[in-house]
Amino acid sequence: MNKKLLYTGKAKDVYQTEKTDEILIVYKDQATALNGKKKEILPGKGSLDCQISQLVFDYLIQNDINTHLIKNLSDHEQLVKKTDVFPLEVVLRNIASGSFSRKFQVEEGLVLEKPIIEFYYKSDALDDPFINESQIKALKIADEDQLTYIKRMTLRINELLKPFFEQANFDLVDFKLEFGRYKDEIILVDEFSPDNCRLWDKNSHHSMDKDVFRKHEGDLVETYHMVLQRLKNK
Ligand code: C5P
Repeated sequence: MNKKLLYTGKAKDVYQTEKTDEILIVYKDQATALNGKKKEILPGKGSLDCQISQLVFDYLIQNDINTHLIKNLSDHEQLVKKTDVFPLEVVLRNIASGSFSRKFQVEEGLVLEKPIIEFYYKSDALDDPFINESQIKALKIADEDQLTYIKRMTLRINELLKPFFEQANFDLVDFKLEFGRYKDEIILVDEFSPDNCRLWDKNSHHSMDKDVFRKHEGDLVETYHMVLQRLKNK
C-alpha cells in the first residue's frame, strides 16, 4: 500500500492511504506514561493493544455503535475512516481511581453511584488540562448538541462494555474515549485497550492495565497478553 506518514503518536503511527477519506493506523511497541515523560520500548505491546482494541470495536459495531474502523488488516494495523477529531479526551468512571481519587482524596475502589464523565482538552503542550462544558462551548471545540451526543454515546458504550469485560472476570473501572466528525456523523475513533482503560481482576482486584507500567507493578506485555486471552476465551 502506498502510504505517507501523517502523524507519529506515542503509541501509534498514522498514514494516509490512496483514498483521501481512509487512513492506516500502525500500533507501536512503545509504552509511555506521565504524558510521554516515562517511555519504554516493549516488543509485542503494539500487536496486543491492536488485537484487544479490534475485539472491543468489533463488539461495539455489532451493537450498533458507529466507529471509524473499516477493516482489521493484521494484528497491528487497522484501516479506519479519516475524521475531524474533537481535541477532547472523554473519561468515564464507574469506580474511583487514578486522578479522581488523588484530586478529591476519595478511596480507590469506591463504586460510584452513577458513572462520572469528565473532559480533558487534548494538548501535549498544556498537559491535557481538565475542561468543563462551558469552556468547550466557549472555545468552539464542540457545541451543545455535539456534547449531548458524545455524552450519550459514552454512557451507551459503558453499558455495553461493562458486561463485556465482566464475562472475562474484569471490573471496568474507567476508560478514555475520543470522537471524530465523519461527514455529518459523530463516530468513535482511536482505540480501546488497557492503555486507556482500567481493568481490575474481579477476584484479586489487581490492575490488568497500564497502571502496572505506571506504578511498576508488573510486566505490561505479560499482563496485556492475559487480558487478550481472557477476552478471547470468554
Ligand atoms: O489518570 P486518570 O484517572 O484521570 O485516568 C482515567 C482513565 O483515562 C484511565 O483509564 C486512563 O488510562 C485514561 N487516560 C488515557 N489517556 C490520558 C489520560 C487518561 O487513556 N491522557
